[in-house]
Amino acid sequence: MSETPVKAGLEGVIAGNSSISWVDGQKGRLIYRGYDIHDLAEHASFEEVVYLLWYGKLPTRSELEALSNELKANRQLPDEIWQMMRLIPRTAKPMEVLRTLTSAMSAFDTSEYKDQTTREANLHQAIRLTAAMATIVAGYERMRKGLEPVAPDPELNHAANFLYMVKGERPDDLEARAFDMVLVLHADHEFNASTFAARVTAATLSDMYSAITSAIGALKGPLHGGANEQVLRTLKAIGEVDKARQWVIDALGRRERIMGFGHRVYKTMDPRAIHLKKMSQELGQRAGDTKWYEMSEVMEKVVHDEKGLYPNVDFYAASVYHSLGLESDVFTPIFAVSRVAGWTAHVLEQHGDNRLIRPRSNYVGDDNMPWVPLDQRG
Ligand code: SDX
Repeated sequence: MSETPVKAGLEGVIAGNSSISWVDGQKGRLIYRGYDIHDLAEHASFEEVVYLLWYGKLPTRSELEALSNELKANRQLPDEIWQMMRLIPRTAKPMEVLRTLTSAMSAFDTSEYKDQTTREANLHQAIRLTAAMATIVAGYERMRKGLEPVAPDPELNHAANFLYMVKGERPDDLEARAFDMVLVLHADHEFNASTFAARVTAATLSDMYSAITSAIGALKGPLHGGANEQVLRTLKAIGEVDKARQWVIDALGRRERIMGFGHRVYKTMDPRAIHLKKMSQELGQRAGDTKWYEMSEVMEKVVHDEKGLYPNVDFYAASVYHSLGLESDVFTPIFAVSRVAGWTAHVLEQHGDNRLIRPRSNYVGDDNMPWVPLDQRG
């Protein structure tokens, strides 16, 4: 039994090589395939980022059009998935519906790529999942409200089409651009918990559907993707801007975690939060309701002054989604709608140069215990 010191939560442990994305926690820098997140947030569409993550380079116009068309061609769900969605009780949370129906997508994949892990097969499944997960989230959002699902609109890009399928009306330019930027910002983030869950699953040579289902399960947790939903609950619990400061001080006094703050890697401002903060203010000003943004600003200042912590990607995302008219328990599924681009890229990379991921444990249990027959155990 080794006495190797264990880094709790594998903090700081380098668990593998990857050329997909990198987080510089000290400088607050994030790159996808060498491109800075600030450039991507400002200039790239989600489809361009999907191509970048999967192929390692920015697409030409024809390559981008081809990928966009492949995603559009896979937006519609198999009838059986719609039938399964109708059977799910309306009390089910959107994240568990996404986990369930994403897993079920494999059963209705009738292509010759089923259960294969070649690059060609994985790209086929990546396109299918990236396109369909948005439709699953939007479709259930309609159904649980007693509304009929809205068929995908082939004229709209991935971001605008998602909002259209949720709301039944086309988003305006600001809404469409805001949501496209949200998807760009959430697309990948190195070996975060859900991505690593996908890689561990893929490393057994399990299939893409299984790896993405593992990732969705990991993302659901409030310490990871589930934080954004909790952030809006916090904002609503505080209620007013002038109560935000004392609420945070009291919560910290009770040694509570303030959702949307802190990060395992970033020790300064999460670069993604910079863009989400700006978008939260812009959308709030346009709606004539900057309360949530102003409350968020107060919270940001108090948490930093009191704990030296910064907002992460989830903090301002909450008020952006709320300003876009989205329900809080859809925030984490939206995170998955974007992050599936990164998850699938990591499965492609893992299968491309695979070795089973199997760490050791530091055994701290008993040893050499004598057997005790059942009737002598009291
Ligand atoms: C995401 O990994 C990724 O890249 C994830 C992600 C991605 O894109 O995939 O960036 C997305 O998951 C963002 C994080 C979303 N989660 C939350 O917002 C939940 C709230 N945050 C925390 O629970 C926490 O900051 C974590 C889980 C994110 C990171 O925690 P660590 O690295 O395990 O740090 P820790 O728990 O050891 O805390 C260190 C100190 C402690 O203080 P002390 O007890 O030592 O005095 O910082 C404090 C903590 O109490 N602390 C917080 C806090 N986060 C850390 N105190 C109050 N509120 C917080 N949010």
